[in-house]
Amino acid sequence: DIKGFVFDLDGVITDTSVFHSQAWHQVADKVGAPWSKKLEDGLKGISRMDSLEMILKAGNLSDKYTDDQKVALATEKNTNYLKLVDQMTPDNILPGIKAFLDEIKDHGYLLSLASASKNAPKVLEKLQLTDYFPKIVDPKTLSKGKPDPEIYLKGAELIKLKPEQCIGVEDAAAGVASINAAGETSIGIGDKQTLKDADINFENTSEMTLANIQKQMA
Ligand code: G6P
Ligand code: MG
Repeated sequence: DIKGFVFDLDGVITDTSVFHSQAWHQVADKVGAPWSKKLEDGLKGISRMDSLEMILKAGNLSDKYTDDQKVALATEKNTNYLKLVDQMTPDNILPGIKAFLDEIKDHGYLLSLASASKNAPKVLEKLQLTDYFPKIVDPKTLSKGKPDPEIYLKGAELIKLKPEQCIGVEDAAAGVASINAAGETSIGIGDKQTLKDADINFENTSEMTLANIQKQMA
C-alpha cells in the first residue's frame, strides 16, 4: 500500500528548471560549449558540479579549467540562478500542484522532498510551501546524485516508510531512474518519450490527482 510521496522540486512543483537552464546556458556561451535541447534535458536533476562537467564535456573543455576555475563558474551560475529565484512568488507554483499537495495531505499520505538542489529550502520559502515539507533530503549528505537511488531511498527513510510504500514524482529521466532503482513507484511528468521508464506518466502537473494515479496503477 502506498503511504507517502517523495517529490522532486525543480520542474515538478515549480518551473525553476527553466531558470536552471537559462543560467547554465549563459555559462555554456561564456566558455564556448555548444548548447542543445539534449544537453538541456540531460542536465535536469543533475547536481551543480556534475552539470558543469557535462557542459564542459560537451565542448571538450574539461581539461581547460582548474578545479578553482570550475568552482568559480558554478558559483557564477548560482548567482545568476538566485537572481531569478528572488523574483519568485506563489504564482510560480505549477498548475494543480497546490491542490494535489492538499489532497494527499488530507488523505494522510506522508511527504518528503528529494531535490538535488542546495537551493530547495529557499525556493520552497518563495513559494510559501515550506510547511508542506518538514522532511527534506539534504543533498550535502549524498555520496551519489540521481540516477543513483540514494536520494529517493533517503526521502522514504525520512518519513519512515519502505521504498515500496512510496511514489516518487519527477520531471527528469535521471530522477525516474533513481526512483525505479530505489524500488518506489515512479511518476514522470512531461514528455512521455523522455520519461518512458516511469510507471505512471502525466503530460503536465494539472493531470496529477489521486484519482488519475489510481487509474494508472490499476
Ligand atoms: C536540481 C535541478 C538541477 C540542478 C540541481 C542542483 O536537480 O534539476 O538542474 O543542477 O538541482 O541545484 P543547485 O541549486 O544546488 O545548484
Ligand atoms: Mg526536476
